[in-house]
Amino acid sequence: MRVTSILWPIWLTVSLTKAQDILARELHVSDAVEAACAELGESHADLVLLPNTAEYDKEVINVWDKRSNLLPGCIFRPETDTQVATALRIFHANNAQFAVRGGGHLPYPGANSISDGILVVLSGLNKIKVDTKKNLVEVGPGNRWLSVYSALAPHGLYAIGGRLSTIGVAGSSLLGGVNWFLNKYGFTMDTIVSYDVVLGNGTQVVADKRTNSELFWALKGSALNYGVVTKFVIKTYKIPRVTSTMQIFQQAAVPAFIKATCDLVLSEDGSVGAGAVININYNVTTGTATPQVFGLQETTKSPPSRFANYTAIPQVVTRVHNVTTPIDRHAGLAAPKPDVPVRLCVSFGHHTIKPDAKRLTEIYNAWIDAINDVADVPGMRPTFILNLVPRSAATVSKKNGIGNTFGLDNKQPYIWWQLSTSWARPEDDLRVTTWSQSFLESIHAENKALGLATELLYGGDAADYQNPLLTYPKENQERLRHTRDQYDPDFVFTRLNWGGFKLGY
Ligand SMILES: Cc1cc2nc3c(=O)[nH]c(=O)nc-3n(C[C@H](O)[C@H](O)[C@H](O)COP(=O)(O)OP(=O)(O)OC[C@H]3O[C@@H](n4cnc5c(N)ncnc54)[C@H](O)[C@@H]3O)c2cc1C
Ligand SMILES: *[C@@H]1O[C@H](CO)[C@@H](O)[C@H](O)[C@H]1NC(C)=O
Ligand SMILES: *[C@@H]1O[C@H](CO)[C@@H](O)[C@H](O)[C@H]1NC(C)=O
Ligand SMILES: *[C@@H]1O[C@H](CO)[C@@H](O)[C@H](O)[C@H]1NC(C)=O
Ligand SMILES: *[C@@H]1O[C@H](CO)[C@@H](O)[C@H](O)[C@H]1NC(C)=O
Repeated sequence: MRVTSILWPIWLTVSLTKAQDILARELHVSDAVEAACAELGESHADLVLLPNTAEYDKEVINVWDKRSNLLPGCIFRPETDTQVATALRIFHANNAQFAVRGGGHLPYPGANSISDGILVVLSGLNKIKVDTKKNLVEVGPGNRWLSVYSALAPHGLYAIGGRLSTIGVAGSSLLGGVNWFLNKYGFTMDTIVSYDVVLGNGTQVVADKRTNSELFWALKGSALNYGVVTKFVIKTYKIPRVTSTMQIFQQAAVPAFIKATCDLVLSEDGSVGAGAVININYNVTTGTATPQVFGLQETTKSPPSRFANYTAIPQVVTRVHNVTTPIDRHAGLAAPKPDVPVRLCVSFGHHTIKPDAKRLTEIYNAWIDAINDVADVPGMRPTFILNLVPRSAATVSKKNGIGNTFGLDNKQPYIWWQLSTSWARPEDDLRVTTWSQSFLESIHAENKALGLATELLYGGDAADYQNPLLTYPKENQERLRHTRDQYDPDFVFTRLNWGGFKLGY
C-alpha cells in the first residue's frame, strides 16, 4: 500500500501506519484543510485527532456503513457549542471542506464522513437535561436515542425518537424522524420546540416559534443546509407502559402480512399511539423470506389491538406480546453497536406508494426474482421494509401552527417501501447499489403509471442518489432556499459540505 506524504503542522508529528492498513485508501490533504486543522490544533490540541493515531482510526470507522470509511485530514471533537462556532469560523475563513457526524447512521459515503476535509464529530456534545415541569428534554447532538430514553424513564416520560435506539438524535430529528408513535404525535421533527444553531459564519442563534421562526420551520426536515445544531429541546410525553408485539412468520404468510400492513395504515385514526418496524428479510443461503413485525402500542392490554390483523395470521413462527416499559423495549432492540468488528456495507433506497396490498405483493415477488442477480455477492442480506405514513401523522403538523418542510397532506396515507441491502466487500459496491437503484426506479415508474405513487422521499430511508429536499412541495423548496439565502448567505453548507441532502444553488 502506498501512502501520499503530506506536510503536517509541527505541533504533532505523524507516523503513517494504521488507518491506511485498515482502510486501504490514500490520504490527501489540501492546503485549506491543512491550514484549518493547524488552526484548530493551536487552540484545541486535545480535541483534534490526526491520521495514524489510534483514536483517529477508531473514529474513522465509527459509522454504520462500511462504505463510509473515508480519511479526513483531521478530526475535530468539540465539547461545547462555542467550540463548534470556532470551528465553523475557521472553515469559513479558510474555505475548508468539512463533514458533520451525529450518530453516524446515514448510510452512504460523505453523509457523515469525508476525504480530505475536516470531520466534526459531535459525540462530545452529549448533555441531557430533563425538565419535568414543562415535560421537555434538552439534548446535545452527540446523543443516541437510548441515552435520551434512559434519562426520561425514571420520570415515566418518553420522547418520540428512533425505533432502533442506537441511531443519532441529531440526524434523525433533522431529517424527519420515523418513530413508534408517529401516528399520534407526528414525526420527531414535529416534537422539537427549539434549536440552538451555529450558522456558517460561526454566529450562534436560537430558533424557535418566536425567534428566527423561518429557520425553525426550515430545520424540520432539511438536514445540514442551515447550520450545526448544538442543542435540541424536545417534547416528552407521559408514557410509562406500553405493549409490544413481536411476530415472525413463514414465507407463506407474505400476502396476508402485506394485507395486514395496508390495513394498519388505512384504518389509522391517530387516537392510540401505535407503530411498527415491518420487514421481510431474505436469506440467500436458504432461499427463504421471513416477514416480521415488531409493533409497539400505547396500552397495557395484551395482545395490542392495533396489530390484530397480524395476530390473526396462522402461519406464524414466533409470536410474543409483552406489557413493558418503553425503555425495556428499546434496550432489547438496540442495533449492533458500531464497534462490532464485522461491519457491512449498507445501502438504503425507497419510494412512496399508496397502501395497495395487491401491488405491494407484486413488488415483493419482483424483488425475490431480482435477488437472483446478486445472491452470490458475499455477505448479501436483502431486506424489504414497509414504513407507514398514516394520514394522522401529517395532521399533527397541520394543526400545530408550525408545520414542517415535507408538506404532506392528511387525506391520503402512504407507505415508504424501502430496500435495505447489506453486503460484505466494498468491491461489490457498484454492483449492489446499481441493482438496488434499477429495481427501485423501474418499479416506481410502473407505480406512477398505475397512479399509485407520489414523489415525496424521506431522508432517513433515502439512497445517496435520491434527494428528499427536491421532492418537497415546490413552495416549500422556495421557502427553504429563501431561508438559506438569509441564514447562510456565503453558502457554507452548500459549497464546503456536500454530504447529506442539499438544497443546491
Ligand atoms: C439501522 C438503522 C435504523 C434506523 N431506524 C430509523 C428509525 O427508526 N426512524 C428514523 O426516522 N430513521 C431511522 N434510520 C435513519 C436515520 O434516521 C438516519 O440515518 C439519521 O441520519 C440518523 O441520524 P445520525 O445522527 O445517526 O446520523 P448522521 O449520519 O450522523 O447524520 C445525518 C445527517 O445529519 C447531519 N447532521 C448530524 N448532526 C447534525 C447537527 N447537529 N446539525 C446539523 N446537521 C447534522 C450530518 O451531517 C448528516 O448529513 C435508521 C438508520 C439505520 C442505519
Ligand atoms: C383489519 O382488517 C379489516 C378488514 O380489512 C379492517 O376493516 C380493519 O380495520 C383492520 N384492522 C386493523 C387494526 O388494521
Ligand atoms: C441464513 O440461514 C442459514 C442457515 O439456516 C444461517 O446459518 C444463516 O445465519 C442465515 N443468514 C442470515 C443472514 O440470517
Ligand atoms: C417483557 O417485559 C419485561 C418487563 O419489561 C422484561 O423484563 C422481559 O424481558 C420481557 N419479555 C420478553 C419476552 O420480551
Ligand atoms: C453571520 O450570518 C448571519 C446570517 O446571515 C448574520 O446575521 C450575522 O450578522 C453574521 N455574523 C457575522 C459576524 O458576520
